This record gives sequence, structure tokens and C-alpha cells, in this order.
Amino acid sequence: MKRIAVFTSGGDAPGMNAAVRAVVRAATGKGIEVVGIMRGFQGMIEGDMRLLGPRDVANTIQRGGTILLTARSKDFRNPEGRAKAAEQLKKWDIDGVVCVGGDGSFHGAHYLHEEHGIKVVGLPGTIDNDLYGTDYTIGYFTAVDTALDCIDKLRDTGASHERIFVVEVMGRHAGFIALDVGIASGAEEVLIPEHPMPIEEVIQTLKESEAKGKKSSFIIVAEGYPGGGQGVQDAIEGAGFESRLTILGHVQRGGSPKAEDRILASRLGEAAVCALQDGKSDVMLGVTNHEISFTPLADTWEKRKDVNAHLRSCVKTLSV
Ligand code: F6P
Repeated sequence: MKRIAVFTSGGDAPGMNAAVRAVVRAATGKGIEVVGIMRGFQGMIEGDMRLLGPRDVANTIQRGGTILLTARSKDFRNPEGRAKAAEQLKKWDIDGVVCVGGDGSFHGAHYLHEEHGIKVVGLPGTIDNDLYGTDYTIGYFTAVDTALDCIDKLRDTGASHERIFVVEVMGRHAGFIALDVGIASGAEEVLIPEHPMPIEEVIQTLKESEAKGKKSSFIIVAEGYPGGGQGVQDAIEGAGFESRLTILGHVQRGGSPKAEDRILASRLGEAAVCALQDGKSDVMLGVTNHEISFTPLADTWEKRKDVNAHLRSCVKTLSV
């Protein structure tokens, strides 16, 4: 293997730069050249690529976002777009590709392998932590901490005004962020799409909290919960509970990656180069029980990664 490529795709996640850095440096150490593809699959189609050396990724391990930029490419969804991308990879003499992204990006990577025989491995890069085949995804730890930091601030104002706060966190169709944030922030309720608790139960909790003399309550809502944060606020206000809604949104995608994300990204980036050298393709590298694991790309979206349902009852127990 003489030359590989790396790109970031889909929603950016803190730690993506650490992954790119690791790929570039691990490959360079083995005498393999690395091409950085800009703006994900769109840059691949357009041939927007450049050679990256170890100095090009200096001082990036601590930076949020992605120096390679990212996009959700519409053109790559059709076979013509993918054929153009494959042509560009061949033109650039690329022997293997590392795709850092989430399940949408892995669909694309899988097509490159299947339709064009290109060797491609995936690294889980998404704040959502919703990929089967890895205990954690790059960016998840930082996103949870960012959300937590915001909620700690909301608690100050919530306590001062003796108010109920509904806080919507990201996660797309998954409740991983919401659950961990719920536990760590000491919330009264966590609402997630995987086990959509009826809103009547939330109203009941608020009534009980009021009876117990609680003045301020926090309800964490995953964006994928039916109706989202707005739906929850409307329902509880309808039941007579005044509240404030905060949708944390894209702030959760930013910031300097936490140590856990940098370490995960660095380990996976290095392992990705070894995996390509070993001839692996169409797999995602993850970390399972502290060890590097390999999962067919299709499994990452076809199989379901379960949330730890016990965390929900733990939130309830601890909010007594
Ligand atoms: O997948 C990461 C994520 O931040 C989700 O949590 C969220 O639903 C989505 O991306 C938002 O996407 P966009 O940046 O395109 O608005």
C-alpha cells in the first residue's frame, strides 16, 4: 500500500481532527502517503484532495470541528456521483480510504466497496453514539460534557426562579446523550425515543415533585422523542405547569474534544491504517470492552445498539 485517503463526513464531531491526525501520522510512519479529501463525499466527487504530511496535522488534536470540512453530499446518493468519486480515487492512485463519520457516511463507504471494489474502513465519528459495533463514538464524550455544562448553568437560573426547565438535547433517533446527561445533571426525568414514556407519567412526576416541595425540576428530552422538547413543554403547560424550554442544538457539536474522544480517535486512527494494510475493507473499527473491534459496515446501521434502560430508572430513583 503506497497511498491512502482520509475524509470526514456527515455531522462534525469533536475528535475528528484527532482521528485525521492519527491516520496521517500512523501512515507516514509506515511509509504510506495520505491524501486528505475535503468536504466528505462531495470533495471526493469533485477531486478536492491534497497530500497531508505530519506537519499539516500539527496543533489539531485539541481543535473541534474538522480541518477537512464536512458535508452531506446529495450527489453521492446516486450511482453516477459514486462512479465519479471512484474515478477520482483511481486518478489519485489511492489504495484504501478511511471514512470518519456516522451511519449515513458508512452507507456511502459501503457502496464504494461494493460497487467499485475500493478498500474502505470506517471510524465512528458522531456525537450521537448510535452506531452498533462500538461502545462509544468519537465526539460523544465531549457532546455530553458540553450539554452538561449548559444544564449546570440553567440550574442556577432554574433554582433562582423556582422553575421547571425542559431541555432538548441532540442524538437524532437515539437517546444516548439524553440518558447520560440526565444522570449526570441530576434531572427528574429523561425522555428518549427508544422507550417513549407517556407524557402523563412526566406530569405525574411533576405533581409528586410539587407535593414533596421541590421548587425546580429538570426534564431532559432527546430530540428524537415524539414531539421533541416543544411537545413536552406544550403538554406540561397544558397540565398547568409553567416551564421554560431550552433547545441546546448545535452547540453540542462544538468545542475542544475531551481526553476520552482524543484517545478514542487516536487509537482508532492508528488501527485504521493497520487494518487497511491487513487488507480489511467494508468494516467499521470500534472499541468494545476496551479492545479494538471490527464490525461489517452494514451491521452498524442494520443492527440496533441498545441504550442502557436501567439508567432511566436510576434517574428516577435518584431524583426522589
Ligand atoms: O448526527 C449528529 C447530529 O448533530 C444529530 O444529533 C442531529 O440530529 C443532526 O446531526 C443535525 O444535523 P445538521 O447539522 O445537518 O442540522
